[in-house]
Amino acid sequence: MSDKLTVLIIGCGRVAVKHVKALKTLKDTYTLAGLCDANKAAAEKLIASQGLSKDIRIFDDYKKAITELKPSVVAITLPSGLHHEAATFAMNNGSNILLEKPMAMSTAESRDIHETASRLGLKIAMGHIYRYLPIVGLLQEDIAKGVYGKVTHGSIYVRWGHDDAYYDSAAWRGTWKADGGALMNQTIHAIDLLVWLMGSEPCEVESMIARRKRNIEAEDLGMAIMRLENGALASIEGTTCTDPDRHMAMFTVFCDNATLSIGLNSGKPKMDLRLNGGK
Ligand SMILES: NC(=O)c1ccc[n+]([C@@H]2O[C@H](COP(=O)([O-])OP(=O)(O)OC[C@H]3O[C@@H](n4cnc5c(N)ncnc54)[C@H](O)[C@@H]3O)[C@@H](O)[C@H]2O)c1
Repeated sequence: MSDKLTVLIIGCGRVAVKHVKALKTLKDTYTLAGLCDANKAAAEKLIASQGLSKDIRIFDDYKKAITELKPSVVAITLPSGLHHEAATFAMNNGSNILLEKPMAMSTAESRDIHETASRLGLKIAMGHIYRYLPIVGLLQEDIAKGVYGKVTHGSIYVRWGHDDAYYDSAAWRGTWKADGGALMNQTIHAIDLLVWLMGSEPCEVESMIARRKRNIEAEDLGMAIMRLENGALASIEGTTCTDPDRHMAMFTVFCDNATLSIGLNSGKPKMDLRLNGGK
């Protein structure tokens, strides 16, 4: 019998393609046992486009898929509003989860997912992919060790323009119930990195949101200022109002002895690490 870990992917849309590609590179450890989508044609399309084995089982009901396959890992690539219920169901049926961002639609739901995993001794991996870039990991370690001195403040901007066609591509996009706006969807990676790199939890937040351009329920522009438990302040700007052909994101962490910036500009990485000479 194979001792590989089995994976079920639930939700076969845009991001599921990346999960399938990643699993192909990990084929010695994982077997893709099943695909599930409420629209079975999406699962079939994924099998065809990625040249997957015809033996992979297809389901249109994720509860049935989980209880029949009992996979080691359920990769949850569903619309964000379904993350909490699917994660809870998967863990209560014994599966570890790989959960796409955002973890859930509220802090209460996210805490509940975390508590369920702890209680059942299961693992959660979050789709916060930028944490795994080697340079980001090295920076986090050095900041945590105090190599650059105390963290004074931080700042992020995410100018991730999306046009109406993007929002029209699925009914859940831009809704409060299933997606949230520019902060919850597009800016969440940078918020996660900022808090992780600054090494402290937020304890106070002031924010404003607006709908300036897109015909959606949630915000397409959000700005916030946070105070972290270690006393540092951080500013956040997140928007989908900007040029859809020019995605830009940047985080900067200011320390006593250095200013550390990493970002993306139209897919090109940008980095600027400056030592202040200890002054
Ligand atoms: N980590 C990242 O960088 C990243 C990138 C893109 C998307 N995401 C996240 O991934 C999730 C999915 O985004 P997407 O862009 O792939 O969405 P999508 O709309 O392209 O795909 C979602 C799929 O889920 C299916 N679905 C909906 N309800 C279902 C149900 N009840 N049971 C089974 N299938 C159901 C839909 O038919 C669709 O095929 C979102 O939470 C999004 O925030 C993460």
